[in-house]
Amino acid sequence: MRHFLTLLDLTGDEARHLLKRAAKIKGKLKEGKPHRPLEGKTLGMIFDKASTRTRVSFEVGMFQLGGHALFLHSDTTQLGRGEPVEDSARVLSSMVDGIMIRTFGHDVVQKFAQYSKVPVINGLTDLTHPCQILADIFTYEEHRGSIEGKTVTWIGDGNNMAHSWINGALSFGYKLKLACPAGFEPDEKLLAAARALGANVSLLDSAAAAADGADLVSTDVWASMGQEEEHALRKKAFADFQVDDRVMTFANADALFMHCLPAHRGEEVAASVIDGPQSVVWDEAENRLHTQKALLEFLMSDQT
Ligand code: CP
Ligand code: NVA
Repeated sequence: MRHFLTLLDLTGDEARHLLKRAAKIKGKLKEGKPHRPLEGKTLGMIFDKASTRTRVSFEVGMFQLGGHALFLHSDTTQLGRGEPVEDSARVLSSMVDGIMIRTFGHDVVQKFAQYSKVPVINGLTDLTHPCQILADIFTYEEHRGSIEGKTVTWIGDGNNMAHSWINGALSFGYKLKLACPAGFEPDEKLLAAARALGANVSLLDSAAAAADGADLVSTDVWASMGQEEEHALRKKAFADFQVDDRVMTFANADALFMHCLPAHRGEEVAASVIDGPQSVVWDEAENRLHTQKALLEFLMSDQT
């Protein structure tokens, strides 16, 4: 049994294989051909935070694969009233075939996986958001071909998305350049671990320097879920880290822009960029569905 808590839970070959399957699965859907390897199977989806894309893509994905998904929000389950994670993991995994969790501490998904009898998928923690990166790489490659050897730029918070881009540099072999305000850099341990395994990651001190020569520019909100009270403080600290038209001029002419969404136009990204011709954010959002169907198939079915 396998879990998917970070991108490093897949080998590079498995990650590649998964994206190939996603392309096949997307093709079948577009042609109206059914693909139901998860008939009779159920995915429990635990949410401690809000979601639009993650919830809908997993729920619709399970339905399209022939299975069923249960939405379990902490507001209405015993987990939210303090039932221990390990007890919840034992109970839920005795009834469902897979579990997706969106929560705060990464230790929660790790503990859940430790006590679960079925695969556990990280649907976002404060540390990482690996499902999003699968969709992002898939989207880049749909538009521009292999991402291997390309330059990816991250501008903004050294957050869960930045961390997943760092791990992705290992799985997919791109060069990653990050520009984060002082005090908001990525987690040192995660960065050091990825570098030790061979990830090509550099930290730069300005958005322009990071965007220089980029094939793909990506950013995310300045205050993530759970950091709402820091919003005003972060707005000040991040003022020089907006992806705007000037920053995009440093990137290659055919560079793409991505954002995991939801976005704040006028904060981390200018409206002219996210709504402009280099932006592929709507494809990126849709591809959550196709790449996660490949992930669900990989983890929960024998037919791959
Ligand atoms: N990108 C993403 O995970 O979106 P949601 O928060 O809407 O799930
Ligand atoms: N960094 C954001 C991503 C949302 C999909 C957050 O954690 O809120």
